[in-house]
Amino acid sequence: MEREDLLLKLNWFYCLEVGQVELYQAQSKKFKGSYESIVFERTALIEQEHVDLLAALIRELGGEPYLIGDVISPLFGGLLGKTLAFTGLQKTLQGNIRIENKAMADYVALHKEVGDEFGPQLQTVLEHNLVDEDVHTAWFARRLEDYELLGLED
Ligand SMILES: [Fe+2]
Ligand SMILES: [Fe+2]
Repeated sequence: MEREDLLLKLNWFYCLEVGQVELYQAQSKKFKGSYESIVFERTALIEQEHVDLLAALIRELGGEPYLIGDVISPLFGGLLGKTLAFTGLQKTLQGNIRIENKAMADYVALHKEVGDEFGPQLQTVLEHNLVDEDVHTAWFARRLEDYELLGLED
């Protein structure tokens, strides 16, 4: 893979992760006072770590991370809007799982595509971010399952 292609891909992940930080912070505020609110707040911190790791990688490759606007809404056909406001906990969890799945699929794809030509750190960051998204997805999915079992309505 060419360095420029890799930089473009890493920058896309950078934007996705920045979007996730904003998303989970907004959700934490929205569900304030609940256990989920605390989970969203802590998850946002992990996503910020992903942002920082990606920014460092991009800079090491001689690039500079930049925001290309909202990359999350297009994943939902643009329906989400800039406020990233999902209604109700059930839809919120479903949306989060969708975003995390997208992130995981793309991390796996890039990890497969790059060898060690850019050094071991790149693969380590992709692996670590992937594992974190996997953990987030598992928690969201389990909470959603509880929610559905209880038959709660949004
Ligand atoms: Fe992330
Ligand atoms: Fe995540």
